[in-house]
Amino acid sequence: MGQVLRVEGGQRLEGRVIISGAKNSAAAILPATTLTEEPCFLRHVPVIADVLVLLEILNAVGFKARFLTGPDGTARAEPAGAVVEVRQAAEGDRIVPHDLAKKLRASILFLGPLLTRFGKAKVALPGGCDIGSRPIDLHLKGLAAMGADIRVEHGFVTGQVPGGRLHGAEIYLDFPSVGATENIMMAATLADGQTVIHNPAKEPEIVDLATFLNSMGAQVRGAGTDLIRITGQHRLNGAAHTLIPDRIEAGTYLLAGLACGGTIRVENVIAKHLEAVIAKVIETGAEVSISEDAIVARGPLRPRAVHITTIPYPGFPTDLQPQFTAYLTRAEGTSVVYERVFENRFRHVDELNRLGACIKCDGSTAVIEGVPRLTGAPLFASDLRMAAALVIGSLMAEGISVIQGVEHLLRGYEDPVGKLRGLGARVELVEEGRLSELSFRLTEREG
Ligand code: UD1
Repeated sequence: MGQVLRVEGGQRLEGRVIISGAKNSAAAILPATTLTEEPCFLRHVPVIADVLVLLEILNAVGFKARFLTGPDGTARAEPAGAVVEVRQAAEGDRIVPHDLAKKLRASILFLGPLLTRFGKAKVALPGGCDIGSRPIDLHLKGLAAMGADIRVEHGFVTGQVPGGRLHGAEIYLDFPSVGATENIMMAATLADGQTVIHNPAKEPEIVDLATFLNSMGAQVRGAGTDLIRITGQHRLNGAAHTLIPDRIEAGTYLLAGLACGGTIRVENVIAKHLEAVIAKVIETGAEVSISEDAIVARGPLRPRAVHITTIPYPGFPTDLQPQFTAYLTRAEGTSVVYERVFENRFRHVDELNRLGACIKCDGSTAVIEGVPRLTGAPLFASDLRMAAALVIGSLMAEGISVIQGVEHLLRGYEDPVGKLRGLGARVELVEEGRLSELSFRLTEREG
């Protein structure tokens, strides 16, 4: 029996919250440490379930990865953050096993680095958030263009490099996929010659990965623009790197604060990474001020309705769409949300409606008729950002909500209960067995 999150909603949130290192940077940079036989040190690594799985994968593929400060000691959500050390340990088969790969989609990001470094790799087909079909064809096409012999069989992607070294290639991505850009970029750092990625993703985490790779001695130019050029090297060295702040975590707390009508100061954040989100919250009537590494936002009594469209960076991020949808449930007027990155990212809608929201979905569009109030209810989260949206919805709702599936929240948010409590939220993790003490039983839920 697992844990659930009990939320007593209707409280104003006030105060400051310190943002952790970016989950999605860690998801690419931890696999990138396999590109060298020298030790690497990463600072400001978020202590979240996904990172623990990435460390387990490193250990499975012949590296020794551990927190120097961390879950077994002193990891805290403070600017210095947790430090992870990665060292190459052993000869190995370089296999990412199914039981680890199924826990997170980013496991596929080991394919490019292992292939280019060792000439072979085997990665179980990835799992991760259930937000619609998430193919990896662009990753595989890119690596094949660089000379890898790729097969998908028995639930594994198996790659071999005839001759031992990949070669540079001109690669055009049909869609600016974050993961495909990262896999190809990492593979290209040790390939023979130059690789050019046309139409790459431009997310800040791509730039963070490029910064790390360049500090390892790689030659990556143009990350963050429409064209990335990588000149392959014979070897890379170890490096130390501090991860960028998690813009999605920052946006989540901003929206939670605004949704609950308070003034929130989000610290350790790069406001530039949140430009599209900040523009939208201002449109809803929020007051926002930006200083060197902090954003202060004050919520309107009720937000004005707005329309949002998720698109690749620098557009509005799909990873904040569920949370923004939750915020808009109490807007004055009708909002429309267009999801253009993932095909099935509206699972939060039915659950938000259980709180009294009025949202209708048609394919990849959601129409939200704002309502004046929400009321607490039992809820079920089945993916990470959905879980964050349900937390925001529950915080806005009067009375008690209980959220099942809270393990999804812990995959990507460091110490969410501590951080929310620091803002005055009444939230607690409760063993599911204790639920009978609550005013309703989840097991009686229909469906
Ligand atoms: C990354 C982020 C995730 C975020 C997403 C979009 C990490 C660990 N995760 O995921 O939080 O929601 O970017 O910003 O960084 N696609 C293909 N073929 C491919 C790859 C992708 O068709 O080979 C499609 C996907 O189905 C999806 C779209 O491209 O519709 C975006 O996916 P992608 O940018 O690859 O997302 P991820 O790297 O999986």
